[in-house]
Amino acid sequence: MEQQASQASRRVATSDDVEVSTYLEIAKEKKGQQPLPQEAPKAQGEAVLVIDFGSQYSRLIARRVRECHVYCEIVPYTASWESVSGLNPKGIILSGGPASVYEPGAPLAPTWVYESKLPVLGICYGMQVLALQLGGRVSASARREYGHAVLHQNEVGSPVFAGLPPSVPVWMSHGDQIAELPPGFRALAYTDSSPIAVMGSGSTIGLQFHPEVAHTPQGMDILRNFLYKVCGLSGAWTPQNFVVQAIEGIREQVGDGRVICALSGGVDSAVAATLIHRAVGSQLTCIFVDNGLLRRDEPRRVVELFGRYLGLNLLHVDASRRFLRRLEGVTDPEQKRRAIGEEFIRVFEDEAAELGHVDFLAQGTLYPDVIESQTAENQASAKIKTHHNVGGLPATMHLKLVEPLRYLFKDEVRGAGLALELPEEMVYRQPFPGPGLAIRILGEVTQEKLEVLRACDWIVMDEIKGANLYRELWQSFAVLTDARSVGVMGDYRTYGYVVAVRAVTSQDAMTADWARLPYEVLARISNRIVNEVAQVNRVVYDITSKPPGTIEWE
Ligand code: XMP
Repeated sequence: MEQQASQASRRVATSDDVEVSTYLEIAKEKKGQQPLPQEAPKAQGEAVLVIDFGSQYSRLIARRVRECHVYCEIVPYTASWESVSGLNPKGIILSGGPASVYEPGAPLAPTWVYESKLPVLGICYGMQVLALQLGGRVSASARREYGHAVLHQNEVGSPVFAGLPPSVPVWMSHGDQIAELPPGFRALAYTDSSPIAVMGSGSTIGLQFHPEVAHTPQGMDILRNFLYKVCGLSGAWTPQNFVVQAIEGIREQVGDGRVICALSGGVDSAVAATLIHRAVGSQLTCIFVDNGLLRRDEPRRVVELFGRYLGLNLLHVDASRRFLRRLEGVTDPEQKRRAIGEEFIRVFEDEAAELGHVDFLAQGTLYPDVIESQTAENQASAKIKTHHNVGGLPATMHLKLVEPLRYLFKDEVRGAGLALELPEEMVYRQPFPGPGLAIRILGEVTQEKLEVLRACDWIVMDEIKGANLYRELWQSFAVLTDARSVGVMGDYRTYGYVVAVRAVTSQDAMTADWARLPYEVLARISNRIVNEVAQVNRVVYDITSKPPGTIEWE
């Protein structure tokens, strides 16, 4: 162990041990042009609560509300008023859900929803909950209604329909419907199958259809009307405001404590570290562990950006030999993942121990992780892969967590990154897995194979960027298979590696489709790899979606 530790050379990045690359120059130029985020206007501190009845669309509702620049959080229907009042809610959305309101144990809205007198928008099941709890009646529809329908308004002037034509296409997905309005409510719109497709009384509104899905083309207008005209919100939640609020929040939480943060080179840890640095400056120390499984040029870029350009306290640990030794003889994908994860924690702990007393560990946890861990508590799901993430760090260190991105979606993290003036190249980076290239090398990981894969990966990236496809793709990369094949070059027989190219489109990595890359781009990638990387003589393209495949090969 000691011997291993001594192999991990350790140094603090200084301003003269690296070159400044082009993208940093561009970022510097931009720096002078924009006001610093600290000077942005203060946020309104307003929020909307999305009460989750288990709909597959709850997350989508939250995303849509945020797209209207209104901060919102998804809360369980069991939440107490005390647990949510601190968010300063100005409106409530009741989500859809799979249940029927008359089923035993069907989830209902907590009484504070009605006692608070806040505007309420019930969507699908949420509308039925409103109807039931406010004294109306819900019944099974004679005809279940799934898919497109046309919504006709009964009267003009309802704020939720402001600016919309009298009839609009909507997306339905329900088996129950409102049979009798609660006292004081009016039917505001109908469809062929639902006589009461929209109901309202003052600022309490129920929609039988789903405004949050793309199949309801004017759905965003309806949501915006609810947020701005019914709730009176101003749509002031912008990345700049988030940055200001987050910095204040971190200062409050951290006080004069010391924070450590593992940097991966990815956008999440970059944004988290930059926010914390803005908040508490030199109280933050970042640790960048080079595990030797990174892309070509990656360590240099990270050190340049964070150490030199952003001026963070950065410990750059070259632990590549230590990781390679640990991976010797390991061929099983899960064993590889575990070995890398464990080694990472050891290196990190060793480094952190040298820093002396530390109070906080910064993590780039995002909102989808939070939502997933909330729902996963109630669900038994099969483990597909052991994810190693630089965020998921040692519980044994007993540090308090600082998680400034805990309530952000990925695109909002990118927005915050831009507001913090991080270089676009960093902000729009495609995700890269914690175990790095090791899970893109089938079989044992060796230095030689890493070099082969790095060369192929570089070509894929170069061509994808050259064809202007980088941002359209969720990920694009090369995989070094453990297969070899026979080829011919000149008049000679060759026997070389088979490399697979993988490019996928995705919203959130939960599902993905293989990208229909133009043939010319594939041809250039294949041509260059076979010509420029001597050990490879065959290139194949992976046309598997997820599911049934996963994005990474291991
Ligand atoms: P899969 O292969 O499960 O990957 O379809 C889904 C997404 O997660 C990334 N990935 C990881 N990210 N640590 C990470 O930080 C990991 O261990 C890990 N494994 C996969 C993968 O690149 C894709 O974006």
